[in-house]
Amino acid sequence: MKTILITGGAGFIGSNFVHHILDTYPDYRVKVLDKLTYAGNLDNLRDVMDDDRFTFIKGDICDKALLKEAAEDVDYIVNFAAETHVDRSILDSEAFIRTDVLGTYTLLETVRELNIERFVQISTDEVYGSITEGSFKEDAPLNPSSPYAASKAGADMLVNAYWVTYRLPVIITRSSNNYGPYQYPEKLIPLFITNALEDKPLPLYGDGMNVRDWLYVKDNCEAIDLVLHKGEPGRIYNIGGDNERTNIEITRKILAILGKPESLIRYVTDRKGHDRRYSIDSTRIHNLGWHPRTDFDTALEDTVHWYVENRWWWERVKSGEFQRFYKEYYKM
Ligand code: NAD
Ligand code: TYD
Repeated sequence: MKTILITGGAGFIGSNFVHHILDTYPDYRVKVLDKLTYAGNLDNLRDVMDDDRFTFIKGDICDKALLKEAAEDVDYIVNFAAETHVDRSILDSEAFIRTDVLGTYTLLETVRELNIERFVQISTDEVYGSITEGSFKEDAPLNPSSPYAASKAGADMLVNAYWVTYRLPVIITRSSNNYGPYQYPEKLIPLFITNALEDKPLPLYGDGMNVRDWLYVKDNCEAIDLVLHKGEPGRIYNIGGDNERTNIEITRKILAILGKPESLIRYVTDRKGHDRRYSIDSTRIHNLGWHPRTDFDTALEDTVHWYVENRWWWERVKSGEFQRFYKEYYKM
């Protein structure tokens, strides 16, 4: 029996990971510690709330005393807690520096004081920056473009320093762009699905030719599970979907699945500092025994259908804080 503390477990990937762990390991206990920012949502966890193996703690990863209490009896910590949206970091990056950098530091200090077997830091391919050709390996220099990516790179540097200095049992995962159920509709795929369902314009930045490598969230959860149990301390693991697509291709696919017209596409002013292409080399985790299992077209269709069938979930989210951000950022 193991106990995992999952910080940021009420967000998109974190809540999918909670479901994955409880479904895969009947004898594991899961504790979620989450601040419930605009992106945190207890609806994401509503079907595990009554599970005896599950506990929820509302709190901030910058709160050292709370972290120490929450982590006292746990074997593993997996940290998903972060401010995560590039566009919000362009408007105001203070919360990014606080949570992503100071929060990760506070977690590392907690791991240093307690007897934690393993700490997994969930990072992103965005720390490497943009690449025109080829793919970044884990030892590539960090070259973040946005305040979001810079805050995640800062956290990665700290995690690595705690490995080098204290030999803490830490691991970093850097995944590519995730998609799937429970993703906050500020990100490309859920924003475009839900806007299309409401017959609202889909704001495509620049020429729509930026490239992202799309990874189904459930594949990422399997990879994180593998790294948590079998990864080597002190190592970084890239987790890519091997599935690079332009934004316009994604947009057209979503509209085709929903049977909506391409006239909904609205080309808008490009994002400031917009990275052209992300690409990572995932050979290291392939050698550990993981490959993405999901076919993109099937998983995108499943994802679109999830949003079609779970209007209650995203209509509630879109009627709240989302409105303020959307109006301020998109001016539409
Ligand atoms: P999300 O924005 O959906 O959720 C973040 C969660 O963290 C929310 O539940 C929020 O309430 C919580 N949180 C924020 N600040 C906190 C704090 N100070 N203390 C405690 N909880 C706090 O994010 P996501 O998309 O699920 O991303 C999870 C992690 O994966 C992040 O670290 C992100 O950088 C990384 N990542 C995401 C993607 C992606 O495509 N979504 C890709 C690569 C890496
Ligand atoms: P996003 O989902 O914000 O992820 P990230 O920027 O972290 O990769 O955006 C994915 C891509 O989609 C990125 O190239 C920006 C683009 N995009 C748009 O064109 N319009 C939008 O409204 C959003 C949110 C993103």
